[in-house]
Amino acid sequence: MSPTEPQHWTQVPHAPSPGAPVCALADLVDGVATMRTLGVAAMPFHLLLLRSGEVVYGYVNRCAHFGVPLAKQQEQLIFKPHESVSCNVHYARYRWQDGVCVAGECTGAALLAVPLCVQDGVVLVG
Ligand code: FES
Repeated sequence: MSPTEPQHWTQVPHAPSPGAPVCALADLVDGVATMRTLGVAAMPFHLLLLRSGEVVYGYVNRCAHFGVPLAKQQEQLIFKPHESVSCNVHYARYRWQDGVCVAGECTGAALLAVPLCVQDGVVLVG
């Protein structure tokens, strides 16, 4: 990652404010990595949502290797339920629970984690 790249999710253009709603928990399938875009089309913020039971892990959809999306479309997203999500460019593999790259060109680097919480069945930016 170059020094000009964001080091924290709040530095990513169009980052949502804490408390912003993301989706209903029921919209996410347990063990599935789901792509979501927040904001309006001209100012998108691309998220990856990884659900494990009642917990949802959030990451910016931006590979730590070259800063590109892990996938551009949901059907291209590579993941192992509750274990990992991978970039479909050079296949860096990131751990589900903390977004750390455990295999690939950027081992030891990490996705930018976005804190999330669930309140009354709604996933919110934490
Ligand atoms: S751009 Fe994602 S692994 Fe290279």
